[in-house]
Amino acid sequence: MTNSTTLPTSPVTAVLCGNPAFRDAWYPVARSIELSLDRPHAAMLLGTKIVLYRVDGVATAAPDRCPHREAPLSKGSMEDGCLVCPYHGWKFGSGGRCVNVPSSGDHVPPPPRAHLSTLLCEERYGLVWVSLGTPRQGIPVIPHDADPSFRRITNPTELWHTSATRMVDNFLDITHFPFVHTGTFGKGQDTRAPSVELQPLDNDWFGYAYDVKANNDTAGGSQASGETAAVVERSMTSGFQLPLACRSTIRYQSGLEHILLLLSTPIDDVTSYFSFVIWRNDDFSVSAEEIVRFDHAIGAEDKQMLELFDGVLPLDQTTLVSVQADKCNVEWRRRLVEAMRG
Ligand code: FES
Ligand SMILES: [Fe+2]
Repeated sequence: MTNSTTLPTSPVTAVLCGNPAFRDAWYPVARSIELSLDRPHAAMLLGTKIVLYRVDGVATAAPDRCPHREAPLSKGSMEDGCLVCPYHGWKFGSGGRCVNVPSSGDHVPPPPRAHLSTLLCEERYGLVWVSLGTPRQGIPVIPHDADPSFRRITNPTELWHTSATRMVDNFLDITHFPFVHTGTFGKGQDTRAPSVELQPLDNDWFGYAYDVKANNDTAGGSQASGETAAVVERSMTSGFQLPLACRSTIRYQSGLEHILLLLSTPIDDVTSYFSFVIWRNDDFSVSAEEIVRFDHAIGAEDKQMLELFDGVLPLDQTTLVSVQADKCNVEWRRRLVEAMRG
């Protein structure tokens, strides 16, 4: 284990794929509703192609490679609750168990090595989470999910052509608001950042709390905030859990709370899934579609900016110049590098 004082001065370039700090973590790779009973689903995590399928209601994940001749199982079909390989029709059921090899007939059991080596897979918050290794932490806890005064909105998973490290760096950063979010809540916002005091937040999140004035005068703004003033006060927190999970919480003066789980899944070093889930304690009078339209517009502004960058985010503390407002980003990078060095 190393600490910040022993970090090298040479640039550390993150190579996410293959590093245990990234493999030993949970990531959402699809929405639960994408796992239908009639076809398998393809995904990729840290350079590994994955097939997802549902048997008896249970989501199963495995490398997208048939043990027989390596055919992509995600191109197969679902039949009688089993995943069927498109090449020679081997059938895989619950837990990846090979239950039928057509060429052997019904009375010869499949060879023991015919079963799929399944991956850890769980469903939470309307998302399918997978780990390629042994997770060092559980799936992030959002207690509002069990609170009936909050509703949950799970949004479609998006493909972003940027590194997951750059996404996290963006989600923890509030000083881009008046420059990037000019079409939404950042228009006309004060460019000076509040003083950043890092602190443990609830439920193992770590980050900072701050107040901002947000523009409320663009399409969808008043529906999201529940207020009609041109500018509204937000009390917010931004926090992270290693390696790549972020959460933003917003509390408006009306008492309305809006919690955003912002999840960056590395498909490979420079391509990612963006999944986000919202919890709100509103009166449910505004449709989920209207609520997410505003958050989608904000996400699109971030995506457009991040897709201008090449490569992964440098993680050492010397390649990038940071200021007071970047404290949380610097601390996230420091902890991430420490975890990567294991
Ligand atoms: S490659 Fe899958 S059954 Fe042959
Ligand atoms: Fe942003």
